[in-house]
Amino acid sequence: MSSESEIKKGFAEGFWSDEEIKELFLEKQREFMWNDDYWRNVLVPLFNLRYDSTVLDVGCGLGFLARKLAEHHPKGKSIGVDLDPKLVESAKKVAQKIFPNHAFDFRVGNAYELPVESESVDLTICQCVLMHLEEPLKALHEMQRVTKKGGRVVAIEPDYGSVSFFDSAFEKMGYSVDDRAKFWRWELQRRIGKKKLGKGDDDIGSKLAPLFFQSGLRVVDVRCFDRVFWLIPPYDRKGNDLELEQLLLPPEFYFEKLDARAEFLAGGGTEEEFKEYVSLMKKEHEIRQRQVKEKTYVASLTQALVIVIGEKI
Ligand SMILES: C[S@@+](CC[C@H](N)C(=O)[O-])C[C@H]1O[C@@H](n2cnc3c(N)ncnc32)[C@H](O)[C@@H]1O
Repeated sequence: MSSESEIKKGFAEGFWSDEEIKELFLEKQREFMWNDDYWRNVLVPLFNLRYDSTVLDVGCGLGFLARKLAEHHPKGKSIGVDLDPKLVESAKKVAQKIFPNHAFDFRVGNAYELPVESESVDLTICQCVLMHLEEPLKALHEMQRVTKKGGRVVAIEPDYGSVSFFDSAFEKMGYSVDDRAKFWRWELQRRIGKKKLGKGDDDIGSKLAPLFFQSGLRVVDVRCFDRVFWLIPPYDRKGNDLELEQLLLPPEFYFEKLDARAEFLAGGGTEEEFKEYVSLMKKEHEIRQRQVKEKTYVASLTQALVIVIGEKI
């Protein structure tokens, strides 16, 4: 059993059920996150689902994956587990409303000690969860325990180290090489601090396949998310309004909600550097806001999510 302090150090204490965070990241962002053709034609076939498979969505939040997969195992069962009881309650309501005839079962539980019987699941999957855990390998062992022999364990996690976001935006804004280099150093420092504080690893994507191997799973395939976030004036493509809303969130939002200052300092940054970092972010935000308003902001941003498909042997 994981200790209370182990859990509390993560993001779990009501962070994801905060109304603003929930709406932005677990509802709106999920609407424009995946290219449907890639999901259906490339990924889902790798999950080996049958009409009656049992699927487990670990760290399910509002049950996004459980719902997204339901049509691919219509006579099967979908279990969702999350540490946050408020999210579990909401997940139940949303799923029931959208798929009244599917067998959903959402439970409060910890990824380190899943409330699920051993070798009872055909597909155990998580999205953007291992990145927030202090001990992702421990969670992978648990995911493996509950999966049937020959069944699939899948993790979909980001590798922020490969994000083109800052570079493409900064180039357009005329930032000097020096400012860009500083920004990257500070960003790296913050991520190192985040990890030190036990709040997870933003670069876990690139480490996923080795973790699967270490956990004893057979790695069947490793893929990369194909979605590019492109914003071209007049920003009238379906979902562009949601993408813009997220792009234009003021930096204060991230600093306060994610406690970026504590992460930055834990990563070796100084108070002075943090102030400079914040002011650079604010400047970037102002420029971007103006460009969007004038419809001169043109960007194509890649954000890698790595998808590892494993088999329980
Ligand atoms: C970024 S959200 C992802 C939610 C969902 N997988 C999705 O993609 O929409 C991370 C989720 O992991 C949950 N979580 C964090 N630590 C957990 C743990 N130790 N056990 C179970 N769930 C956890 C959080 O409550 C939150 O709902």
